[in-house]
Amino acid sequence: MAQFKLPANSRVQVGKTFPAPSGAKRVKRFVVYRYDPETGENPRLDTYELDLDDCAPMVLDALIKIKNEIDPSLTFRRSCREGICGSCAMNIDGTNTLACTKHIGEVSGDVRIYPLPHLSVIKDLVPDLTHFYAQYAAVEPWLKTKTPTPPDRERLQSKEERAKLDGLYECILCACCSTSCPSYWWNDRYLGPAALLQAYRWIADSRDESIGERLDALEDPFKLYRCHTIMNCTNTCPKGLNPAKAIGEIKQLMVLRR
Ligand code: SF4
Ligand code: SF4
Ligand code: FES
Repeated sequence: MAQFKLPANSRVQVGKTFPAPSGAKRVKRFVVYRYDPETGENPRLDTYELDLDDCAPMVLDALIKIKNEIDPSLTFRRSCREGICGSCAMNIDGTNTLACTKHIGEVSGDVRIYPLPHLSVIKDLVPDLTHFYAQYAAVEPWLKTKTPTPPDRERLQSKEERAKLDGLYECILCACCSTSCPSYWWNDRYLGPAALLQAYRWIADSRDESIGERLDALEDPFKLYRCHTIMNCTNTCPKGLNPAKAIGEIKQLMVLRR
């Protein structure tokens, strides 16, 4: 029978509050999702009050300050701090984005921070991306050729051919788009916008010689056609990419080759 309530051990509870240091003048509250499956306790929301006069400007700076100075148990991923690695993807102020490129000043009121939605949580802000990466691997994201490589030079592209990869190669696989997609939430066989954008990145590459096989692999009621053009993916991508358009291009190629 369908269950319409969250199981009792999933309900998010009110957690601890860590007050601002005395004398703080520009206090901002960060309300952060906390969950540690090893404790057997329910998830909770802890509140950290920071003095913005003593904190660097990005949400990731605030999380690092909390971890370094207030609560070392807080767990999150991050690496580059430049919007390049995709590690710090999380849900901030209701939107999936990168903590390192999200300015604290963009959030009015409390800064509410959750892990990316609809994924199992490993701990706190760290979701389990195993299935996401398996879907990425499934599109075989590498150049596949049949003709021999010229012995004296690389496989060349014209400027026009290279330009067709713009808007595709910049994807950092942060998973913000896929985890914002309702179709992705409810169908684990749907590849989702990130993997499909990556699939199209190779389909659109003039050097690739396996376009037919790539399209065959996507010709399936679940992998591709669960996209219903809801556009959450494109609206949320922190790199300004358009996965919905890439999905539309694949669908068009499917029609053209019939
Ligand atoms: S398309 Fe954008 S949101 Fe999706 S994984 Fe790539 S960079 Fe992230
Ligand atoms: S356009 Fe397609 S992939 Fe993007 S959010 Fe909507 S259903 Fe998901
Ligand atoms: S830390 Fe690398 S994208 Fe944010």
